[in-house]
Amino acid sequence: MTDEELIDVAKKYRENAYAPYSKFKVGAAVLTKSGEVFGGCNVENASYPVTNCAERTAIFKAVSEGHRNLEAIAIVGDTEGPCSPCGMCRQAISEFRIGKIIMANLKGDSKVVSLDEILPFAFTDSDL
Ligand code: THU
Repeated sequence: MTDEELIDVAKKYRENAYAPYSKFKVGAAVLTKSGEVFGGCNVENASYPVTNCAERTAIFKAVSEGHRNLEAIAIVGDTEGPCSPCGMCRQAISEFRIGKIIMANLKGDSKVVSLDEILPFAFTDSDL
């Protein structure tokens, strides 16, 4: 699967975003090392902190289906530049050592970054 194809899956899931409060829809797609793809969107809540971001929805879908070896994640939002994952999602990306993060927007901009670039000095299981 190419980066563009993974971005397209994330875009498709973005359409399912439940974002009545922020109106900011986000889609994500996780590619497993064995080639499966899991998509997700943000799911907001009237109690705002209960909201789940698109990235964590996609990661939790993959993991709950038994896939822990994750290769890449694409994130799409209607942002000026490529859509950047929030800090909480960076930590979730770190837990499953997703090495390739593809940030994109609806205009066709995209940027590939590594986990080390976006979360240096990460807190991991080796710190426990
Ligand atoms: N959001 C995501 O889904 N992913 C991010 O990395 C950043 C923020 C969502 C959460 C909330 O529903 C909306 O975007 C505005 O913060």
